[in-house]
Amino acid sequence: MSEITLQIDGHEVQAQEGMTVLEAAQHAGIYIPTLCHHEKLEPFGGCRICIVEVEVNGWTKLVVSCVYLAEEGIIVRTRSEKVDRLRKTILELLMAHAPDSPQLQALAEEYGANPDRYEKDASFCIHCGLCVRYCAEVKNKFAVGFVDRGIRKEISFVPKIAAKECPDCKECFPLCPTSYLQAVYVLTQSLVFPEAS
Ligand code: SF4
Ligand code: FES
Repeated sequence: MSEITLQIDGHEVQAQEGMTVLEAAQHAGIYIPTLCHHEKLEPFGGCRICIVEVEVNGWTKLVVSCVYLAEEGIIVRTRSEKVDRLRKTILELLMAHAPDSPQLQALAEEYGANPDRYEKDASFCIHCGLCVRYCAEVKNKFAVGFVDRGIRKEISFVPKIAAKECPDCKECFPLCPTSYLQAVYVLTQSLVFPEAS
């Protein structure tokens, strides 16, 4: 794999061809916020909080850094007026669903997001998919999945698999940005396999 050079926030950065902009930044110790990214999982591009500004041949565009591949000579800005404005709006929308998430609260403070901008619809899950994808891609167990679609989409444990696999695993718990996962697990466990408590 060949090495490429790009610029991130004014720093010349080396990366391997095939790395995403997010990976290139992380490799160089430059922080970009993420909510649905995990280094062990396939890129997902769901939450959009990792959006950055990229300049290619004098043209500037906004890209999702966890799925956009780093290229030779591009100029990346992880913070700009546009990037910050977008992140602020994304956070305000997410906080309507999960106002008590410490991770969202910390980001909201950083980007000056107003948690009360949108009417509360506390569904608690922000659909980052980390739990579902981790269980499937890393553990190969499929004990938790999404049911329904659109705004009605929610996670659900598959009782038969969860009863067997989850009590000794729970590796997905710390990944959830809102703690909703733990709440659904406790409910499922108490209803379906209380003997595991
Ligand atoms: S339960 Fe948590 S980890 Fe799972 S999709 Fe929802 S917010 Fe993400
Ligand atoms: S971290 Fe990139 S879209 Fe969620």
